[in-house]
Amino acid sequence: MEFYTKNVHYGKKVATPIKSKVTPIYQSSAFTFASLQELEGFYEGKGNFLYSRVGNPNTDELGQAVAALEGAEQGVATSSGLSAILVSILAVASTGDHVIAPVDLYGGTYQLIAKELKDVGIESTFVPFESKHTILEAIKPNTRVIYSESVTNPLLRVENIDQLVEVAKEYKLISIIDNTFATPLLCKPINKGVDLIIHSATKYIGGHSDVTAGVVVGNKSLMEKVNQKVVNLGTNLSPFESWLACRGIKTLSIRMEKQAQNAKALAEALVGVKGVKQLFYPSTLSSLGNGAIVTIELDTELCRMESFFESLEWIKIVPTLAGVETTVSYPIATSHRALSEDDLKKLGITRGMVRISAGIEHDQDIIKAFKEAIIKSLI
Ligand SMILES: Cc1ncc(COP(=O)(O)O)c(C=O)c1O
Repeated sequence: MEFYTKNVHYGKKVATPIKSKVTPIYQSSAFTFASLQELEGFYEGKGNFLYSRVGNPNTDELGQAVAALEGAEQGVATSSGLSAILVSILAVASTGDHVIAPVDLYGGTYQLIAKELKDVGIESTFVPFESKHTILEAIKPNTRVIYSESVTNPLLRVENIDQLVEVAKEYKLISIIDNTFATPLLCKPINKGVDLIIHSATKYIGGHSDVTAGVVVGNKSLMEKVNQKVVNLGTNLSPFESWLACRGIKTLSIRMEKQAQNAKALAEALVGVKGVKQLFYPSTLSSLGNGAIVTIELDTELCRMESFFESLEWIKIVPTLAGVETTVSYPIATSHRALSEDDLKKLGITRGMVRISAGIEHDQDIIKAFKEAIIKSLI
């Protein structure tokens, strides 16, 4: 099946005597058994469900849907993108192990790895991932995991996944890729040999800014370990949130296609505009599009940031991305707020930087809104 078809007809749905077109919400913490024999059947793998932390028709459907789209054998839904990252790392690394990751990682993931994992004895090193030499220098005898994002936030560096997998294979590391920004429509890290893929389903998978969720997918043997962590740590997703994300995912391909087209049109329209100092827009992600995020750096000597944001009118400031509405976020006030001036400088994050998440509106309206706001912000 082509991606666009699979996107709607993904995976296995739960069969019930009542043939609803859409899986109902199984808002139940547990499931009943008519006999001890039936209960034993559950443990022998003969279908049914036991307890929603262990498995639920809606949560399973979401995990299977993302696995189908990523081309992975199995998937599990989690309570957030961060918990997806947590369980995927804890499934393959423990006290005394070491993780390597790029310096330009999403701030929340950086905190999780650098602080929370450190507290349980998992150490980490963050280096620029552009050069293989630098990655190799960071590897230690106890390195277990190489972690990155297919497209970074907010500077939109497209990860060299082939290089990352090469390093992982050579040094027997588990590779994990956060595919949130790219989505499986534009990038399938599994096909390149990545072991585990994670998503903040809060973003494009859900797509409507109404659910906080995560997903991990991978092969059966690694996913058994990930599943065990979800069950033991209680990082499962609720049935309703899973149902919302499943409703959202069915339109992923058409949303992403349109949003990526709008991002491209906007990026092209903002080239050379007075006040725009730099423009970040990936050009090498996929032949189907380069994602739906455009980051611009306004020249703060020419533009007043406050008036820029205030002049955007229908485009709201939101500390997230990927909804169907075009939104903006201001990294130094949100995702990168905790960083020192020095760290911001090292990462190249400036006061003029604005991350734009293109929505599904008409491209000309989006372009007009940004051009007008930039003009109004000029000093
Ligand atoms: C690339 C990326 N990964 C992971 C996360 C964390 O996801 P969540 O907020 O769903 O926990 C985010 C959140 O913004 C993100 O942008």
